[in-house]
Amino acid sequence: MAGGFSVSGSGTEFEAKITPIVIISCIMAATGGLMFGYDVGISGGVTSMDDFLREFFPSVLKKKHEDKESNYCKYDNQGLQLFTSSLYLAGLTATFFASYTTRRLGRRLTMLIAGVFFIIGVIFNGAAQNLAMLIVGRILLGCGAVPLFLSEIAPTRIRGGLNILFQLNVTIGILFASLVNYGTAKIHPWGWRLSLSLAGIPAALLTLGALFVVDTPNSLIERGKLEEGKAVLRKIRGTDNVEPEFNEIVEASRVAQEVKHPFRNLLQRRNRPQLVIAVLLQIFQQFTGINAIMFYAPVLFNTLGFKSDASLYSAVITGAVNVLSTLVSVYSVDRVGRRMLLLEAGVQMFLSQVAIAVVLGIKVTDRSDNLGHAWAILVVVMVCTFVASFAWSWGPLGWLIPSETFPLETRSAGQSVTVCVNLLFTFVIAQAFLSMLCHLKYAIFAFFSAWVVVMSFFVLFFLPETKNVPIEEMTERVWKQHWYWKRFMDDDNHHVVPNGGKSNGNGTYNNGATV
Ligand code: BGC
Repeated sequence: MAGGFSVSGSGTEFEAKITPIVIISCIMAATGGLMFGYDVGISGGVTSMDDFLREFFPSVLKKKHEDKESNYCKYDNQGLQLFTSSLYLAGLTATFFASYTTRRLGRRLTMLIAGVFFIIGVIFNGAAQNLAMLIVGRILLGCGAVPLFLSEIAPTRIRGGLNILFQLNVTIGILFASLVNYGTAKIHPWGWRLSLSLAGIPAALLTLGALFVVDTPNSLIERGKLEEGKAVLRKIRGTDNVEPEFNEIVEASRVAQEVKHPFRNLLQRRNRPQLVIAVLLQIFQQFTGINAIMFYAPVLFNTLGFKSDASLYSAVITGAVNVLSTLVSVYSVDRVGRRMLLLEAGVQMFLSQVAIAVVLGIKVTDRSDNLGHAWAILVVVMVCTFVASFAWSWGPLGWLIPSETFPLETRSAGQSVTVCVNLLFTFVIAQAFLSMLCHLKYAIFAFFSAWVVVMSFFVLFFLPETKNVPIEEMTERVWKQHWYWKRFMDDDNHHVVPNGGKSNGNGTYNNGATV
C-alpha cells in the first residue's frame, strides 16, 4: 500500500506504513461522521415539508400559509425545535456511557452498540405516528461520536488530514441529506418518512463495519490485551519491527492507568491550557452560527420568501459548498497551519454575516413576502461564503485541535468533555435559533458576527500553532513557549515521571510524558 514513512512519537522514529487495514479502519470510523452529518442535515428539510407539518405541527403549517404572521416567526415552535435538538441532548448523555464502554469494552464494541441504537432510532422515526415517537427516535439516534478512534490510529504525520476525514464525512452526510430532501419533498404524503428512514444506510454500514474493523492497539493494550495489541500494531504498521512503539504504548498506558481520577486530573493547573482551549473552541464553533444554516437552511430560505422547492435547492448548494471547502482544509491544515485558517475564516465569516444582516435588514420587512430575485441570490452567495470559511476552519479544527493537544493521561477525559460541550451548545442553537430569529430578526446574523470577532481575537492571542507537533511534544514545544500559557507549566511537582525518570535526552521521556 501507500509507501512507508516514519512516525515520530516522543522523539523516536517508528517504522510504519499506511496499510489497507489502517485505511479500512479509518473509513469505517468515518462512517460515524456520515451518520452524524445525515442527521444534522435531514431535519431542516423535513420540517419545511407541509406533509410533515400537517401530521405533527398543524399550528406551524397554519402560520406558514397565513399572511398575518411575521415572516421571521413562522417556524418559532418549541416542539419543532425539540425535534431537531433532542438528538444532541441525547448524544451528550450517550458520550458519558460511550466513554465508559470504550474503556471497558473497547472502541469496536462501542461502535457496534452505537450502530444498533441508530437502527432502532431510524425505525422509530420512519414509522412515527406522533411527536413522542419522533422525539424518541431522534434520542436513539443521538449516539455515535468516534473522532477519538480516528486520531489514535492515525500516524502523526497524517493525523491532521485523517481527523478531518471525520468532518468531511459529516459534510457529505449533510449534503446527502439535502439531496434526499429535495427528492422526497415531491413524494406525497410520506416523502419525509423516506428522508428519516434513509439514515439507516450509514447506520447499517457502521454496524457491519464494526464487525470487521480492528480495535486500536492503544485500546487493546489499555485493557490489558498485550499480545493482541502487539499483533494489531504489526498489522496496522505493516512491519514486524514494532517493539519500540509497542513498549512505548505499554508504558504510556501504565502511566495513564496510574491516573486514578482522569477528570480531576484534567482540572489540574498544568492541564489548563488544553482544557480551556478545548471548551472554548466548542462553544465558539457553535456560536459561529453554522448550525442555524445546517439545521434550518430550508426553513430560513423559506422565511425569506423562497418557495419550497427553491429553499430545498438552496440547501443543496450550501451543502455542496460545505463539502468542497472541507477538502480545502484537508489539503491545507498541515501546510498553512491551524491559526492561519482560523484567522482568515474569521474575517470572511464576519463580512458575510454582516452582509446578510444588512440585506435582510433593508429588504425583508416583517410582512413583505419576497426578497426580490437579485437580493435572494446575493443572500445565497453570502451564506455560501460563510459556510465555505467555516468548513475550512472551525468545522474541522474545532475537533482536531482538542484531539491533538491533550496528552494521553487526560486524552480520553478531555475528549469526552470536548464532545459534551460541543453537543451541549449544538443543542442550545438547535433549540433556540428559530425563536431567536423571531425576536432578533435580521440582527441574529449581527449577533453571530459579534461572536466571530470575539473568537478571532481568542485565536490571535491564545491559540498556539500545533501544526506538525507530535502530541507528546506539546508541552515542550508549544505550551512552554507561549506568552500566556507558559505560566501554567511551572509546577513540575505533579508530573508523572516514568522509567524511574530516565530521560531520552531530548526533554521527553520514553513514554512520551514530557517534563
Ligand atoms: C460541527 C457541527 C456542524 C458541522 C457542519 C461540525 O464540525 O460540529 O455542529 O453541523 O460541522 O459541517
